[in-house]
Amino acid sequence: MILVTGGCGFIGSAFLLEWLQGADEPVVNLDLLTYAGHPGNLAALAHDTRYNFVHGDIGDAELVGRLLAQYKPRAIVHFAAESHVDRSISGPMAFAQTNVVGTLVLLDAALAHWRTLDPQASAAFRFLHVSTDEVFGSLGPSDPAFTESHRYEPNSPYSASKAASDHFVRAYHHTHGLPTLTTNCSNNYGPRQFPEKLIPLMIHNALQGKPLPVYGDGQQIRDWLHVNDHCAALRAVLQRGQPGESYNIGGRSERANLAVVHAICTSLDALRPLPGGQAHVSLITHVKDRPGHDKRYAIDDSKIARELGWQPAIGFEDGMRQTIEWYLANQAWVDSVTSGTYRNWVAQQYQGLAASA
Ligand code: NAD
Ligand code: TYD
Repeated sequence: MILVTGGCGFIGSAFLLEWLQGADEPVVNLDLLTYAGHPGNLAALAHDTRYNFVHGDIGDAELVGRLLAQYKPRAIVHFAAESHVDRSISGPMAFAQTNVVGTLVLLDAALAHWRTLDPQASAAFRFLHVSTDEVFGSLGPSDPAFTESHRYEPNSPYSASKAASDHFVRAYHHTHGLPTLTTNCSNNYGPRQFPEKLIPLMIHNALQGKPLPVYGDGQQIRDWLHVNDHCAALRAVLQRGQPGESYNIGGRSERANLAVVHAICTSLDALRPLPGGQAHVSLITHVKDRPGHDKRYAIDDSKIARELGWQPAIGFEDGMRQTIEWYLANQAWVDSVTSGTYRNWVAQQYQGLAASA
């Protein structure tokens, strides 16, 4: 049995769906069902007896302790987080609460649980903390990519909260010997990503003929990884990673934001032309830049490739085509997640960002 947190979100749900396809080991999923958590992401598991869902907060120490005592998991895979940079700028407290305090509560409960295990179970136990490359800060155009020993230099309240959680994970290994693993991954894309993030937001707006809001000049660079490749890396780290170590995970696909948006537009011109034949690129609108916007992220994945034999398998162009096709085929999912609270967010975030030249 493994305990997953945040399994109703974008990456957690992909992880759970693949996990139960590949193994018979049961899972318990602890998720608070915030705006970003959608039980419908796991509809395929509704009648699967290996799947247990618990609605609750990772920051609830009593609940987490009870779950660990009841299910006695051999591993915890920790996805639960507030994950959107723009929301961390307008509302940082939830990020401190879930990402920092919530992770600490989980670590403390994991430590108490781990100490009850017999020597064999204790040696096999793992706490896998799913983190981000954003903790390393921003790179210049020709800087070498982030290695695991790159200094921490978080620039947004989101990345600061994830950096703090990484430090607590490190400290629990160093101080108490808890067998932790940390992964720092680049930007994910794929099915079921909430349309507040760049790629699904652009697809969603383009399908409705709405403006495509590119922050600043759109020359910021991200490294993109398909979510299923990320999940494969997490399985490799869980199985073969060394306790106390961290592993960088990336897609070997650095792209400027504007190039990503252009690619989406070109695909949609072919797959779902706008009425009147207008090109989707005509919807691109440059808006006010994000405050403190990180210029470039890039991952050096040589450690995980060398030590665990993992490398990305899905090329960016193929993965994007599949992702766009998924959104076209799953409009009901998009409609179900873009209800009232989503519209409030879009109104609050974008109405103040006047179009720039
Ligand atoms: P997401 O926002 O799609 O999902 C987060 C999930 O956590 C939701 O199901 C939500 O309901 C749940 N959650 C939030 N607060 C909770 C709480 N207090 N208790 C229990 N559950 C709670 O996030 P995601 O994109 O799937 O990211 C998952 C993890 O991966 C995060 O830790 C994130 O920092 C990390 N990560 C994400 C990316 C990316 O590109 N999305 C890249 C690298 C790392
Ligand atoms: P995002 O998906 O929010 O991920 P992150 O900020 O964690 O990298 O954004 C990816 C990039 O796209 C980032 O440089 C900000 C930019 N962006 C836009 O230009 N417009 C948008 O509406 C959004 C949401 C993001």
